[in-house]
Amino acid sequence: MAETATAEPTRRDFLFIATGAVGAVGVAAVAWPFIAQMNPDAATIAAGAPVEVDLEPIAEGQIVKLFWRGKLIFVRHRTPEEIKAAEEVNVASLPDPEADSARVKEGHAQWLVVYGNCTHLGCVPLGHAGAYDGWLCPCHGSVFDTSGRIRQGPAPTNLPIPPYTFVSDTKIQIG
Ligand code: FES
Repeated sequence: MAETATAEPTRRDFLFIATGAVGAVGVAAVAWPFIAQMNPDAATIAAGAPVEVDLEPIAEGQIVKLFWRGKLIFVRHRTPEEIKAAEEVNVASLPDPEADSARVKEGHAQWLVVYGNCTHLGCVPLGHAGAYDGWLCPCHGSVFDTSGRIRQGPAPTNLPIPPYTFVSDTKIQIG
């Protein structure tokens, strides 16, 4: 596992390197836990095949990042408060109206899985930030809520949902 002195020990996000690629390690600079079972082999990644993600190590309140088909994905284990905040929004008032229930899988509202690039110009929003404690994009200030929906700023749409299914209560397959 690569570690650097620049990692922030108090940071709640942590990165699972899902590619095993050296380049990804450089970006990650992780002191955060590396979960081996989330690391599919390079051939699987190269082929863009589905990947399974074990949710068990992801504590409530945490956001993990992984790459699938070269794209960043956030997996967020939402707290009851975060779910409540996402569900109580007047959907009609949203810039990109979408109910929270349409963005999570039935019976798994604690798990939000979204692509991790801002829908404005592609920067990576910061988790647990912004007025809604969802994400805040540091580039031009787009604010996303705990459902990954755009609430303020120039991003035109919500963070999209990648294709995924639950293969068990504690495991999803992306792709
Ligand atoms: S890239 Fe996120 S607000 Fe512009």
